[in-house]
Amino acid sequence: MKAIVCLKHGSVDVLELAELPKPTPKDNQVLIKIHASTVTMGDSEMRRLLIPAPFKTFLRVSLALKNPKKILGQELAGEIEAVGKSVTKFKVGDKVFAPTDIALGAHAEYKCLPEKKPIGRIPANMNYHEAATIPTGGLNGLDFVKKAEIKSGDKLLINGAGGSIGTYATQIAKSMGAEVTCVDSIEKLEMLTSIGADYVIDYNAEDFRNSGETYDAIIDIVGSCKIADTMQSLSNGGRFIMGNPRIPETVKGLFVSKRNGKKAIAVLADYRQEDVDYLIELIEAGKIKAVIDKVYPLERMREAHQYVDSGKKKGNLVISI
Ligand SMILES: NC(=O)c1ccc[n+]([C@@H]2O[C@H](COP(=O)([O-])OP(=O)(O)OC[C@H]3O[C@@H](n4cnc5c(N)ncnc54)[C@H](OP(=O)(O)O)[C@@H]3O)[C@@H](O)[C@H]2O)c1
Repeated sequence: MKAIVCLKHGSVDVLELAELPKPTPKDNQVLIKIHASTVTMGDSEMRRLLIPAPFKTFLRVSLALKNPKKILGQELAGEIEAVGKSVTKFKVGDKVFAPTDIALGAHAEYKCLPEKKPIGRIPANMNYHEAATIPTGGLNGLDFVKKAEIKSGDKLLINGAGGSIGTYATQIAKSMGAEVTCVDSIEKLEMLTSIGADYVIDYNAEDFRNSGETYDAIIDIVGSCKIADTMQSLSNGGRFIMGNPRIPETVKGLFVSKRNGKKAIAVLADYRQEDVDYLIELIEAGKIKAVIDKVYPLERMREAHQYVDSGKKKGNLVISI
């Protein structure tokens, strides 16, 4: 099978098109013929090893053990081509989407996944390209919104709302009845308004923490909000969700004042089957949709990474396979 391998860390030139053996499913696995994947900021960070120093060794070891073929790609959509002997939930021909976790491997023509991992049937109103964007954006976005305990009427601010996770989080929070303020660069604000943002802020022109406005919850997807000044922008009882937590902020979050019931929580998202099923319901009800900026074929992976590295991506960048 064709795959893009990342044998070293560095510029987009480390990505190579390779021919690898087609995988065979174990008894508990399904073999998926991949039709679409994405390049996320997470893929770009892994290629560049752009992660906090204490996690670098852990990531290198995990990748070596769990992803020996060195294939990136955190999410996929495709069709089940074969099932292992003990698989009961899926059958050949099912159209599915799934995250690949730290084992990665979606930038290839095939991937085996255990059937007990979160795997969803593609919503009736989505194609492969759209469905490939659900796992990273949808599952992380939903997890952050749930941990922010959003309820109808809450005022929520999302920092870094214009990417994969933020475009889903915005729509999910709107579907729950929140009033949503989205912060991102100016080029992304029109798109954010088009998917339901009530207010938008260009972070290069204005710092929301200086406005005097307060919010019931703040979700920081990019990790640019420091705890001390962000807590001042929370209402009494407010929740600050750190979606891209650095170690110093995580530690401060544990000790931060609980005065007025405010809390700061560093989140490493969990991927749960119940969340996959809930996202399918929201999509089929027409409450949320995929935001796709560009589509590249597998063979143009270097250009795709370059575009993600540039920070210009609005919503998602899809890889067609
Ligand atoms: N906690 C977890 O479990 C978890 C899970 C998955 C991913 N992540 C991490 O979450 C991060 C974001 O993921 P993503 O896929 O949504 O990334 P993305 O698609 O690149 O979106 C991030 C958005 O933030 C904007 N941005 C950059 N700097 C900003 C700032 N200072 N203030 C406000 N907005 C800013 C970017 O726009 P401009 O470039 O135009 O500024 C971009 O639109 C990644 O670093 C990823 O590793 C965390």
